[in-house]
Amino acid sequence: MITKPLYLKWQPNLSFFMSYTSNYDVLIIGSGGAGLSLALKLADQALQIAVLSKFALTAGSTYYAQGGISAVFDADDSIESHIEDTLDAGAGLCNPDIVRLTVTHGKSSIDWLRQQGVAFTEEQTETGEKILHLNREGGHSHRRIVHTADATGKAVSLSLIERAQEHENITLFEHHNVVELITTQDSQADKRIVGAYVLDSQQQRVKTMMARIVVLATGGASKVYLYSTNPQSATGDGIALAWRAGCRVSNMEFMQFHPTCLYHPNAKSFLISEAVRGEGGRLILPDGEPFMQHFDPRAELAPRDIVARAIDHEIKKRGINCVYLDISHKPEAFILEHFPTIHRKCLKFGIDITKQPIPVVPSAHYTCGGVVTDSYARTDITNLYAIGEVASTGLHGANRMASNSLLECLVFAERASIDILQKIAGIPVPKAAPDWDESMVSDSDEEVVVSHNWDELRHFMWDYVGIVRSDKRLSRAMSRIELLKKEIAEYYSYFRVTSDLLELRNLVIVAELIVRCAQRRKESRGLHYTLDYPNTDNSKPPENTILIP
Ligand code: FAD
Ligand code: SIN
Repeated sequence: MITKPLYLKWQPNLSFFMSYTSNYDVLIIGSGGAGLSLALKLADQALQIAVLSKFALTAGSTYYAQGGISAVFDADDSIESHIEDTLDAGAGLCNPDIVRLTVTHGKSSIDWLRQQGVAFTEEQTETGEKILHLNREGGHSHRRIVHTADATGKAVSLSLIERAQEHENITLFEHHNVVELITTQDSQADKRIVGAYVLDSQQQRVKTMMARIVVLATGGASKVYLYSTNPQSATGDGIALAWRAGCRVSNMEFMQFHPTCLYHPNAKSFLISEAVRGEGGRLILPDGEPFMQHFDPRAELAPRDIVARAIDHEIKKRGINCVYLDISHKPEAFILEHFPTIHRKCLKFGIDITKQPIPVVPSAHYTCGGVVTDSYARTDITNLYAIGEVASTGLHGANRMASNSLLECLVFAERASIDILQKIAGIPVPKAAPDWDESMVSDSDEEVVVSHNWDELRHFMWDYVGIVRSDKRLSRAMSRIELLKKEIAEYYSYFRVTSDLLELRNLVIVAELIVRCAQRRKESRGLHYTLDYPNTDNSKPPENTILIP
């Protein structure tokens, strides 16, 4: 039996419809760092693997990553120090075993990426030996960020895509947007994943993709906010899909705001890497005064939650539009060598970072919470895995430390591959599910509803569920979410699915999960700051927020 979703579209299979069913051993939803790493780790084992991206293969956040990947390479650094920094940034909510597991795989993950062809920036020692150049970023007590200048994600993404395209066991599908996961309808304890309904946005039809194993590698949900560093794909689809299918979701209140996104009316979502601060960039007010020393002894290199809140505070207190990040005191050649992408991009907007400070504001950047997984990336549903930003592994706790995310993608791709290879031989090929039936729906005659609802959602999430929250703001947001949910469900029931509609339907669920988690937490901790409970509750051991569907 297959779970029947609660909407009108899915009717029993009708023989006069053409069937669009395909079968794979492993269906990986997402072509970012997590999804492609897993595909490559499985592909040599004679498994047929499908990798989906809802837009182009480079659509995810991975391609845009700047700073790099954290790993211990420096002789003065240690695994223990990386663990300690991660736990400290996570404000008491990291799972120490998961932190240790992840951090100890740092070096092997970088070695694996180099084998895939990723060229990281190197430097020469005094003896002429070439070693990896290491950046420094917020929260890290040592230089430990392996990088490719300021475009690390592009280098990683393009190499992995190239390797995947070469592999005969991997089939890559662009513009394939997952509508719903397909599970057996056993009791929650015995429920198994068997595939997914997938909208081929170019051919405008929904396909049935069956698989013995399904992996969510769909990235984060920062597009739920009006201002975000993330690309369009970050609409939290995997979190919403898993939630509807019956998985637990946790820690969604910990949405991370990156302190420094370029502030310019024509610059959409452009990040100014934390590595700029790592290399000595100072945050200053419009009159040129530095201010971070008033908020934390680590000043510009304090963890992100502290820096973003400090900037938000200064902007609101002074009624200014932005603060400034200044690296112009460094030699021009140094800036051009380390930050060529940022330099080029800012110059397009008339800002020469070798001479001028950069106007910056905080922006939604990273989803610390997500689908609950164990140390092998297994979710609550048998044969369904979640890796990368979509997952809540316990690594980040209440605040992710810079450059720990790409590391998590790589380590948990490896962990999932170990478990999948160990058990896939015992998983039967699933029976075909009924085709998606659109005979009861029509084309929408008011697409404008989707874009209006989308705008409304992002605006109120920014205003009420942003860097500083309160009970009143959260409950305002929740009332609007309830209304939008009803409207979107109705719309979804009567009209043919489109990519925009699917994203909106997922975003509203993600918004609800964020607000529900935020309402549960009666304290301020890490990225969750509320005016009603401004202090951290140290009277009892800290707890993760876990929502059960
Ligand atoms: P993504 O790379 O986001 O990929 C998601 C994939 O899922 C995409 O292919 C997308 O098309 C697909 N997808 C989503 N929904 C669906 C659906 N419904 N159907 C089909 N496909 C779907 N982290 C670091 O560690 N270091 C950094 O320097 C760094 N810099 C960053 C800079 C920027 C500007 C941003 C935005 C993030 C940065 N991060 C950094 C965070 C890091 O890049 C991401 O957390 C990480 O790349 C996520 O990888 P992923 O594979 O989980 O997802
Ligand atoms: C950055 O380069 O500032 C982004 C690093 C990260 O998000 O980990």
